[in-house]
Amino acid sequence: MNIRLARIEDLQGMQACNLHNLPENYTMKYYLYHAMTWPSLSYVAEDHKGRIVGYILAKMEETEESQDGSPPSEPPHGHVTSISVLRPYRRLGLAKKLMLQSQEAMATNYNAAYVSLHVRKSNRAALSLYRDTLGFTVKSIEEKYYADGEDAYAMQLTFP
Ligand code: ACO
Repeated sequence: MNIRLARIEDLQGMQACNLHNLPENYTMKYYLYHAMTWPSLSYVAEDHKGRIVGYILAKMEETEESQDGSPPSEPPHGHVTSISVLRPYRRLGLAKKLMLQSQEAMATNYNAAYVSLHVRKSNRAALSLYRDTLGFTVKSIEEKYYADGEDAYAMQLTFP
């Protein structure tokens, strides 16, 4: 299994993977927006035939412009829009590698101070990946964040 930077021609494969794995789905325009605006932050995992078996779709969070010219209140930070791995390829360390690659690029290329994401309260696998493996902490609970009414944990990891 190979992890590499996502290219424009990968976006359909990433979208297909997302549709298989998650109820939170996005338009092709939104994938394109990520790839064209932050071309170093999204990665794919491919099998030996080059088929996409996992992806991370990530971006930088827009920091609010201050009205009086003072620096923005929030430091630049990355955000994981979506990550998933096809079922037969899980527990091989792919999601961990995808996260680490993207985090490294956020810090190096955009001077990100931290990375944030949302995850369903019931998503044990993803929570374990974020909290236990990568060291994220829960910053808040966003009630009814998801379309079906489930709450989200808003999680963050500060970069060294
Ligand atoms: N149960 C418990 N812990 C788990 C599980 C699980 N099913 N899966 C991963 N972990 C934890 C373990 O600590 C694991 O380390 P270990 O295997 O040494 O014990 C660690 O995470 C790293 O696991 P990876 O192998 O890197 O994770 P994987 O490639 O299997 O992908 C993922 C994890 C992305 C959550 C996968 O299960 C998946 O695609 N799920 C469906 C989609 C999803 O929920 N995506 C996240 C939504 S939130 C968001 O997108 C911001």
